[in-house]
Amino acid sequence: RPSLRVAVLGCGVVGTEVVRLLTTQADDLAARVGARLELVGVAVRDVDVERDPVVDRALLTADGTTLVEKADVVVEVMGGIEPARSLLLHAIEHGASVVTANKALLAQDGPTLYAAADAAGTDLYFEAAVAGAIPIVRPVRESLAGDHVRRVLGIVNGTTNYVLDRMTTEGLDLDQAVKEAQALGYAEADPTADVEGYDAAAKAAILASLAFHTRVGLDDVHREGITAVTADDVAWAQRTGHVIKLLAIAERGEDADGTSGVQVRVHPALIRADHPLAGVRGAFNAVFVEAEAAGELMFYGRGAGGVPTASAVLGDVVSVARHRVLGGRGPVESSYAALPVLPAAAA
Ligand code: NDP
Ligand code: HSE
Repeated sequence: RPSLRVAVLGCGVVGTEVVRLLTTQADDLAARVGARLELVGVAVRDVDVERDPVVDRALLTADGTTLVEKADVVVEVMGGIEPARSLLLHAIEHGASVVTANKALLAQDGPTLYAAADAAGTDLYFEAAVAGAIPIVRPVRESLAGDHVRRVLGIVNGTTNYVLDRMTTEGLDLDQAVKEAQALGYAEADPTADVEGYDAAAKAAILASLAFHTRVGLDDVHREGITAVTADDVAWAQRTGHVIKLLAIAERGEDADGTSGVQVRVHPALIRADHPLAGVRGAFNAVFVEAEAAGELMFYGRGAGGVPTASAVLGDVVSVARHRVLGGRGPVESSYAALPVLPAAAA
């Protein structure tokens, strides 16, 4: 059987679980792909840190640049903008297919990565970048590409959903609940990205770009996090038969002058206790998509955490590896249509 060389950039909450699946499921993956996936290295900041025994220390390197040059498939789970961006571009220039979970990078500079992958004729997959284990990128990017999406709405940040849940059910304050979310591996390296709504805004920007075939960046999203939500707000919501949820909403709309376009926003909202979104607990996420022909679709599942996220990453690895074995490529976003993004929509 032929083999494909896989490099993993990052070995934290998600990277460790990706390495575990690549290692423990190696035979099954080889059968599904038609080639063995050979892990050739894992890039980290500090090679001397104590790690999960599933990670072979001999594979660790602090030199991500050299590592990606010898890989057919590069998995980026280090997070942040740099060096992740330069490493992915370097990998693409060397002909590698890339898989990333990095929504911050995609929301900030996705088009540069898409264009590079398009020019190199290689794949760029990012299912894990939105809503953890839930398959939502592929349905919006591929399954609904022939339909006319009207609205995407939902809970796309596990940390804030967990925090609001713990404030509601246990009366914890925000800081206590955030510490728990960090310990459980849900939060970003800097949890400000979660509680201030940046992470949800990045995901909303990615989903809106795919759903509406346009370019929505982080700055186009009206963003309000949960730091202003108090224990009193949570208690009042409960007394009146509601819960507070951080929602991401992307929809077709009209500007004041009548221009049609896309509006995207992230903000806390009061949800009636009997609404399906009110039942989304802990770090789970749920996304509704409304499309003209398909009608209303709902996607639900674990939105954060190393193990569920690794599932989405491995799904992408299998897809891009199959393309390399069988020939052909997945979808590209190089040619956005001209649908304008309207000024950041207020809540
Ligand atoms: P962690 O902080 O747990 O892990 C980051 C890893 O990347 C660490 O191994 C770190 O090395 C390595 N790293 C960071 N910066 C560098 C650098 N400059 N050079 C080399 N290695 C570096 O993050 P997560 O695993 O939680 O998240 C990774 C990515 O996945 C992020 O983009 C995040 O947004 C995304 N994601 C996370 C989810 C989650 O639930 N945690 C869910 C979905 C997506 P070292 O170990 O030496 O410090
Ligand atoms: N910090 C993110 C969240 C991880 O809590 O949703 C999953 O993208």
